[in-house]
Amino acid sequence: MFDLHHRMAIVTGAGRGIGRAVAAALIEHGAYVALLDRDAAAVAETVAQLGPRAQSVVVDVAAVHEVTAAIEDVITRWGRLDILVNNAAVLSTAPFLDLTPEEWHRVLNINLTAIYYTCRAAVPAMITAGYGRLITIASVAGKRGGGILGSAAYSAAKAGAIGLTKALARELAPFGITANTVCPGPVETPLLAAMTPELRDRAQRLIPLGRFAAPSEVAAAVVFLASTEAAFITGETLDVDGGLTMD
Ligand SMILES: NC(=O)c1ccc[n+]([C@@H]2O[C@H](COP(=O)([O-])OP(=O)(O)OC[C@H]3O[C@@H](n4cnc5c(N)ncnc54)[C@H](O)[C@@H]3O)[C@@H](O)[C@H]2O)c1
Repeated sequence: MFDLHHRMAIVTGAGRGIGRAVAAALIEHGAYVALLDRDAAAVAETVAQLGPRAQSVVVDVAAVHEVTAAIEDVITRWGRLDILVNNAAVLSTAPFLDLTPEEWHRVLNINLTAIYYTCRAAVPAMITAGYGRLITIASVAGKRGGGILGSAAYSAAKAGAIGLTKALARELAPFGITANTVCPGPVETPLLAAMTPELRDRAQRLIPLGRFAAPSEVAAAVVFLASTEAAFITGETLDVDGGLTMD
């Protein structure tokens, strides 16, 4: 099931964590994957683990000229692009009263504006092909206003990412392109390093399934949305949160 052979994919923030698991799962299902990350050492190590169908691209997704050139280069080399997974993000836990304009713009640029940049570079080739899968990794924070780790800037960016993805779903449906969002709750990745044992315990008690997700459980949802089996799903927001949200 979920045959992704001959599919060409880009995953941002794929050097570690969820992005790495997503790249691994796409490759396991047959795809070729360009892993975009600004951390050169992490993405090189990941590509070495994933084998010949993985390639690394060192780029800051929030730098418009850099990321546009990088995506156009991947598309030129492959001749097409089928799947774009917007996963790169940074956490921001600054309480609203401590939030500076610099922090606001840093988080919004990486977690939201960069998704506009990558889609802007990727969508024309998908339109030409009459096929595409855009998948955004947002967060339950974008629906709940944070509440576990991410606060105002993070939640606002993630809510924006959900809205942007829905707008893309509407506008690009006539071209055979779907756009969907995956909203994880807490996932066992380095992003959670900021969590104290007390906060972990409190968060786990809020989750009906009583634990945090493994990165592979988020990746499984992405593989499904990237597949031809998900052809009639667009504009959807799929929570992978152990029942935390249930909206
Ligand atoms: N871990 C969680 O609990 C959790 C929960 C909900 C949503 N998410 C979302 O899942 C996604 C992945 O999170 P994660 O936990 O794997 O994070 P992570 O911090 O472990 O990994 C993020 C990766 O993105 C890269 N990155 C960050 N900024 C970048 C930039 N400007 N350009 C290029 N690469 C950049 C980092 O180098 C890193 O490799 C994010 O969108 C995050 O908001 C995570």
